[in-house]
Amino acid sequence: MKKLFIETYGCQMNVADSEVVASILSNNYTITDDEQSADLILINTCSIRDNAEQRIHKRLRELAALKKRSPKLLVGLLGCMAERLKKQILDEEPTLDFVAGPDTYRSLPNLIEEAAAGEKAYNVLLSKTETYDDIMPVRYAANGVSGFISIMRGCDNFCSYCVVPFTRGRERSRSPKTILDEARQLLADGYKEVTLLGQNVNSYHYEVDGNVTTFAQLMEQVALLSPQLRVRFATSHPKDISEELIRVIAKYPNVCKFVHLPVQAGSTSMLQRMNRVYTREQYLEKIETIKRLVPECAIATDIIAGFCGETEEEHQATLSLMREVGYSYAYMFKYSLRENTYATTHFEDDIPEDLKTKRLEEIIALQQQLSLEHNRRDIGKTFEVLVEGVSKRSEDQLFGRTSQNKVAVFPKKNYKKGDYVMVEIESCTAATLIGHTV
Ligand code: 5AD
Ligand code: SF4
Repeated sequence: MKKLFIETYGCQMNVADSEVVASILSNNYTITDDEQSADLILINTCSIRDNAEQRIHKRLRELAALKKRSPKLLVGLLGCMAERLKKQILDEEPTLDFVAGPDTYRSLPNLIEEAAAGEKAYNVLLSKTETYDDIMPVRYAANGVSGFISIMRGCDNFCSYCVVPFTRGRERSRSPKTILDEARQLLADGYKEVTLLGQNVNSYHYEVDGNVTTFAQLMEQVALLSPQLRVRFATSHPKDISEELIRVIAKYPNVCKFVHLPVQAGSTSMLQRMNRVYTREQYLEKIETIKRLVPECAIATDIIAGFCGETEEEHQATLSLMREVGYSYAYMFKYSLRENTYATTHFEDDIPEDLKTKRLEEIIALQQQLSLEHNRRDIGKTFEVLVEGVSKRSEDQLFGRTSQNKVAVFPKKNYKKGDYVMVEIESCTAATLIGHTV
């Protein structure tokens, strides 16, 4: 068997895709975590912001040295950056032997063969149907407790700043049967948590002979597999999150009380330029429904600072919305211009870099405060924690997650990875709950 080293950048979808790739190549390659001894190195890439791509260019230059030492080593580029740059990146980066877009992984054995014969190979065709439905991923990247299942691919939303509809193509859903089979397999392998993944899981829609499965129904079916299996999902577009789904979250104790609902900006005018198709008020109504039906639910978000034409007033509206919702967590970014998106062809990237930085810093500072306040409200309460491993800080402490997706650390005693334990919270930081088992 030859040795394969896969390096994954970007989102959880990419992690899941790398596991599909490992499976497609498993007849000829076993996974290694030592790049020095690899016969094949695959870099699964992200294009979401320019700095994600710059990191990968830098990494490819580092790999040039390794390739000099082992002339037979093959290096392939996968994922969104492969799709975005296509053949051009083969010309720009001589380290690369082949390039494969996100819908072409079944053709990897052929691409590798061509590359081994000395031909630079690429396949960047997007598909309207590929879901890798029948492929059972090789879970080399997982911790044995928590696994990902990709339930749909692509995105049809065309937010004006975003490259994903171009790199991952049209939205398509995978059959409920294969999703449930994969979840059952995870259970049989001792996993305790599964995250259903897609760019926009709320628009999951699978139809055969007029029978439709919605995302809420799929979640319910996965939740019913075992009360011992926690279910999470990521990520959701606010326009599509349904009351039906929120009721499923409320109904099943093993469906985690955590919703990631990216808002991106707090003013209706900005949301309109972003083509988010909801207003501030409509977003807040969805939040209200979640809080009403699932009072213990934690809510996280994504925010972009300094998008085209952002006024001080619009920026202040983002801050006030953050306070109003009281997010437990946020992923926060500076706007990064992406070629060929609607924003690039119709608006000007006119917020100066230092103002983008200033606004992002204000957003981060506020979120830090909100996370701390959110965590402080947990002090004195007891939560069920799924143990993921030994704490980085101390051998005597374990860490795990609450249903609300918060990291909790506590003394180890005789507990181990994969256990559910009840932890009473004594103190906290903005990032972590600290407690003891009860
Ligand atoms: N610039 C900055 N952030 C972006 N995101 C998507 N596109 C861009 C961009 N061009 C952010 C959004 C999205 C998250 C995955 O990345 O907040 O929800
Ligand atoms: Fe990056 Fe988006 Fe592609 Fe994921 S889907 S790898 S976040 S560009």
